[in-house]
Amino acid sequence: MPLPYVLLSAAVSLDGYLDDTGPERLLLSGPEDFDRVDGERASADAILVGAGTIRADNPRLLVNSAERRAARIAAGKPEFPLKVAVSGSGELDPAAPFWHTGGDKVLCTTERGAARARALGIAADVVALGAELDWRTVLAYLHDERGVRRLMVEGGGSVHTQLLRQRLADELQLALAPLLVGDPDAPRLFGPGAYQDGRLRLVETRRLGDVVLMRYQPTAPGTGATVSAADRHWLALACDLAAQCPPSETAFSVGAVVVAADGTELARGHSREGGDAVVHAEEAALAKTDPADPRLTTATVYSSLEPCARRASRPAPCARLILDAGVRRVVTAWREPDTFVPGADGSGVLAAGGAAVLLLPELEARAKAPNRHLTG
Ligand SMILES: NC(=O)c1ccc[n+]([C@@H]2O[C@H](COP(=O)([O-])OP(=O)(O)OC[C@H]3O[C@@H](n4cnc5c(N)ncnc54)[C@H](OP(=O)(O)O)[C@@H]3O)[C@@H](O)[C@H]2O)c1
Repeated sequence: MPLPYVLLSAAVSLDGYLDDTGPERLLLSGPEDFDRVDGERASADAILVGAGTIRADNPRLLVNSAERRAARIAAGKPEFPLKVAVSGSGELDPAAPFWHTGGDKVLCTTERGAARARALGIAADVVALGAELDWRTVLAYLHDERGVRRLMVEGGGSVHTQLLRQRLADELQLALAPLLVGDPDAPRLFGPGAYQDGRLRLVETRRLGDVVLMRYQPTAPGTGATVSAADRHWLALACDLAAQCPPSETAFSVGAVVVAADGTELARGHSREGGDAVVHAEEAALAKTDPADPRLTTATVYSSLEPCARRASRPAPCARLILDAGVRRVVTAWREPDTFVPGADGSGVLAAGGAAVLLLPELEARAKAPNRHLTG
């Protein structure tokens, strides 16, 4: 099920705090970074915060620049992004500026919280999403019912922690401010718990006055049939690799990446690489791994096209090579059409061998792009 692109945005002190314990909100960013954040808001379909942030900071969460608002309108978007609040209790101040500024607002809450919020007269679409709030349900609701494709999450710590731990965050934008809070009772950006193992990918660093912006992407694949945000990033990379293949009239252009459970890239490959006219992407990638590497049994293979089930050019098709390597999770963007092999069902071969096979159709067009001359 497609979910919005989830961007976590926060400013932190050098010692990792989001705020101090004083009654006023601690201003961590400087003017240049506030302007950058305004630009990010303008590019989002919705901005989400937890109820704790509304209680602590009383934010309005607007696009402040008139030019950016005008550009949104010119692009056919509402002047302001949708504002989304998340609360279990529904215990919110109906007079808070959050509800009375900007455009549309929605409160995603529980059945109990919805009853309380309605009784309080919260000026928003109050949406009950079950007895408990599940983040995938919240994101699917925003995607399917509110058309949200890019979601900016502006805190607080409890919300950021859950989205990162549940592998639902596509990107983390951290503004590191040259301040030290030093108060153990102050809120931290991320709480304790089980995060992905391994390293996140550093995408960018940028100096903005005395603040440093750091952008990261989580890297850990999902598990079994559960899709993580990083699954989409790795599959997008496989699609980009497909675009690097030498063109052929008799074979597809495909890219593949093998990724360990902790998000470490083990190998990548693409069709016909290294002057081998018949090598397939998954085959090329797996050939670069150590067959004795214990990480293969919990690794994921990303392939822009479903791994092949039958082939004439080599003894073993890629679905078999993947199973023989011990890999039991495959993510792909496109089921193999009948162009060269009628009725190919690599997914079926993999599933029969005990592998979880996930199809992410949102990347199908990108997987097909370098093969347009074959598929029409
Ligand atoms: N520096 C920054 O960039 C930045 C940005 C934002 C916030 N902050 C700071 O962060 C602090 C607030 O963070 P916080 O962690 O206390 O609060 P928070 O994350 O903003 O909100 C937590 C609240 O959201 C609701 N919630 C979150 N997950 C839920 C779930 N799975 N199910 C049901 N309800 C859920 C609950 O509301 P109910 O209690 O209503 O059930 C929960 O108490 C403030 O000090 C603020 O200044 C800093």
